[in-house]
Amino acid sequence: MAGMEARKPGTDSRTRVATNNLEAFWMPFTANRQFKKAPRMLVAAEGMYYRSADGRKVLDATAGLWCCNAGHGRQKIVDAVASQVKELDYAPAFQMGHPKAFELAARLVTYMPLGIDHVFFTNSGSESVETALKIAIAYQRARGEGTRFRLIGRERGYHGVNFGGISVGGIPTNRKFFGTMLTGVDHIRHTHDIARNAFSKGQPQHGAELADDLERLVALHDASTIAAVIVEPVAGSTGVLIPPKGYLERLRAICDKHGILLIFDEVITGFGRMGTPFATDYYGVVPDMITTAKGITSGVIPMGAVFVKKEIYDAFMNGPDHMIELFHGYTYSAHPVASAAGLATLDIYEEEGLLTRGAELAPYWEERLHGLRGLPHVIDIRNSGLIGAIELEPIAGSPTKRAFTAFLEAFEKNLMIRTTGDIIAMSPPLIIEKSEIDQIFDTLTGILKNLA
Ligand SMILES: Cc1ncc(COP(=O)(O)O)c(C=O)c1O
Repeated sequence: MAGMEARKPGTDSRTRVATNNLEAFWMPFTANRQFKKAPRMLVAAEGMYYRSADGRKVLDATAGLWCCNAGHGRQKIVDAVASQVKELDYAPAFQMGHPKAFELAARLVTYMPLGIDHVFFTNSGSESVETALKIAIAYQRARGEGTRFRLIGRERGYHGVNFGGISVGGIPTNRKFFGTMLTGVDHIRHTHDIARNAFSKGQPQHGAELADDLERLVALHDASTIAAVIVEPVAGSTGVLIPPKGYLERLRAICDKHGILLIFDEVITGFGRMGTPFATDYYGVVPDMITTAKGITSGVIPMGAVFVKKEIYDAFMNGPDHMIELFHGYTYSAHPVASAAGLATLDIYEEEGLLTRGAELAPYWEERLHGLRGLPHVIDIRNSGLIGAIELEPIAGSPTKRAFTAFLEAFEKNLMIRTTGDIIAMSPPLIIEKSEIDQIFDTLTGILKNLA
């Protein structure tokens, strides 16, 4: 641009010296100023542990961000990725194909309930959600129900950060800064009810009737305007909300009654987290579409996938053969390297029985987690499969600070946890051993006993 001095690549704009400072990277979902004053850098990872920049072994109680289900540094995935980059680094999936994408799709659908037999590839959970929402609306139109454009989400839901996802999502801070979002969206109430369900082990007793909130929205908007409902079977990012007994069954029945599609967002519950391959298996409730990401490649290469029922796919397969049926896709949909990583990840899951291993460990996980009941500020504990949450009483006037302090102290004590609001959430890699479960809860006990 006229009058502007050209910046030399690799140099800082002010000093013109090569720099490796922390300023340029605007970190996602992070308190940037706090982090940059006291960075928590991870430089390596193997098995259940990260290695910090100061050389400590940090136990990963969160599988990265709910994604490294097979643990870190798995040689088989590393090898698959390396050889794929060499063999075929990239191939478009628009009007072209490569074998591993089809192989992965064919293998993945064998994990699905009968009837869900097609998969659309994306690169993240957010993209999977956008894809599923678009397919829902386009499907209703394809089957002659074009007035069904409305999307229903749930309060406290998290469906990623794109506009569709935050519109159907129900976390206020993820919505309030971003304008009007999508129109034609409404929400059913969330199921969190500490007054009736505090310290439930697994599914809470109370709250199945909250599914009837969908009937309220049907009465308000009329079923003929509603395309789909999207919920997380277990709401994760909002602080681990386990569905009350009978709730998901009731939601399914109401959707069936009114011709509304039910989408399960299984971005965190998919790939073994519940002790079953997917939450649909755990709860015995089959949705029409399932959104996934994260564990599909154990977090190694970005990838997501949307699984759909045969009827949905078939509804698009008409018109002249040469016509594109769905005007949607990403440059990196079914990326060869991600596909190779996905195949190697499935091999590991199968060889080591990881998609059901959580079921063996869940009782011990539950016992140790609920052993924290009675510690200062703990107002609720929740669990399912290898997921656990501890809700703390917020400090008056400083919400989130108490849990964030626990997070910082845990990292100092070689433990990586996650917090959302004043809730500590955990979801370790599925290779965890009992001794590591002990390490997590012994460390947390020490922290919570002394937390201000
Ligand atoms: C249920 C659910 N949906 C969607 C997403 C978004 O996934 P991503 O961050 O890969 O876009 C997440 C991420 O945590 C999630 O938990």
